[in-house]
Amino acid sequence: MNPLLNKLHPYPFERLRALNKDIVPNPALKSISLSIGEPKHATPAFIKQALSDNLQGLASYPATAGEPALRAAMAAWLSRRYGVHVDPATQVLPVGGSREALFAIAQTVVDPTRPGATVLCPNPFYQIYEGAALLAGAQVAYVNSDPARNFAADWASVPDEVWARTQLLYVCSPGNPTGAVMPLAEWKMLFELSDRHGFVIASDECYSEIYFRDEPPLGSLEAATALGRSDFRRLIAFTSLSKRSNVPGMRSGFVAGDAALIKPFLLYRTYHGSAMNPVVQQASIAAWNDEAHVVENRNLYRSKFAQVTPLLAEVLGVALPDAGFYLWADVSRVAGDDIAYAQGLLAQYNVAVLPGSLLARESDGKNPGAGRIRLALVASVDECLEAAHRILSYTRSL
Ligand SMILES: Cc1ncc(COP(=O)(O)O)c(C=O)c1O
Repeated sequence: MNPLLNKLHPYPFERLRALNKDIVPNPALKSISLSIGEPKHATPAFIKQALSDNLQGLASYPATAGEPALRAAMAAWLSRRYGVHVDPATQVLPVGGSREALFAIAQTVVDPTRPGATVLCPNPFYQIYEGAALLAGAQVAYVNSDPARNFAADWASVPDEVWARTQLLYVCSPGNPTGAVMPLAEWKMLFELSDRHGFVIASDECYSEIYFRDEPPLGSLEAATALGRSDFRRLIAFTSLSKRSNVPGMRSGFVAGDAALIKPFLLYRTYHGSAMNPVVQQASIAAWNDEAHVVENRNLYRSKFAQVTPLLAEVLGVALPDAGFYLWADVSRVAGDDIAYAQGLLAQYNVAVLPGSLLARESDGKNPGAGRIRLALVASVDECLEAAHRILSYTRSL
């Protein structure tokens, strides 16, 4: 067996199940889950229609690079959304959702034969970054997020000798779980560090279309263009339809960026067998070409967050995030321990939330997720409001 498999950590939900195995949720109340970040709004009818209209696609093998029409639709969306220009032939590739691509990029980029091969990721983080790095034969360095600076990762705390051996840096903006969007100044600093040390930046932007202020989140390709780096050197962005278009089951997204990265990535993906189903390609073209459903979806989240956030702000340290569909709540003043808080909430009020410490690793002597919980506001407004009222009662009782 591949010995690197033993390095993988159990997934946060697996750890949560084990932690909660002896808890009996209050049977008098209907179960509400705010723990899993799975979109629950309805899939738009036109996307389902596009799937059923294109079933003839099942009769042929797809190319890993995708149909030219799909690549053109993805490039056109980037141009409308960010004002950036990519060559559809060399700078974009379809992927089966951002998760597999975030994993695959580490297998493409990391050279484990170089001493101290390191992958850097924010902390807390989406667990795939860590597993991808470990299976690529690298070690992981975690960069804690700083609540005092809108949860910005503390890049300045990374020693020069770590930057020097870093081969790949994962960035998540808008962030999961914090919802924070990285500003241009931070991109500038990371691009300069990448120029100095030669590492690749993988920018996970799967929450980019769910935001709460007028200005849409800055994208990495947009930041690069603004800073005069229109070749996107050593930068690759990961975008997904899952959250934007409520199709997590369709497994569709794309990467875009440096042609010198896309080319070896295509080679890797050809061998791995990561071509997108032709039916899904057609439905994805329809989805990328339509913005009306995205506006509608965003408005649903906006209305939900506008109702739930002020209620929870009464008892927990929450504020409207920049983007995403999570509240990253501070329970340290009421409970101290995020796991105990979550277990009590489940037992007494039948509401499941994700303890923040499960989303982060101990680094620099602390776990930056400790004392926090992640609330995924993916269910209906009514269900989220009901959960918020139960959280109010529970927290007040502590
Ligand atoms: C930060 C982050 N990146 C990537 C993904 C993967 O999404 P998908 O593979 O559906 O595009 C998720 C899913 O929850 C996520 O939270």
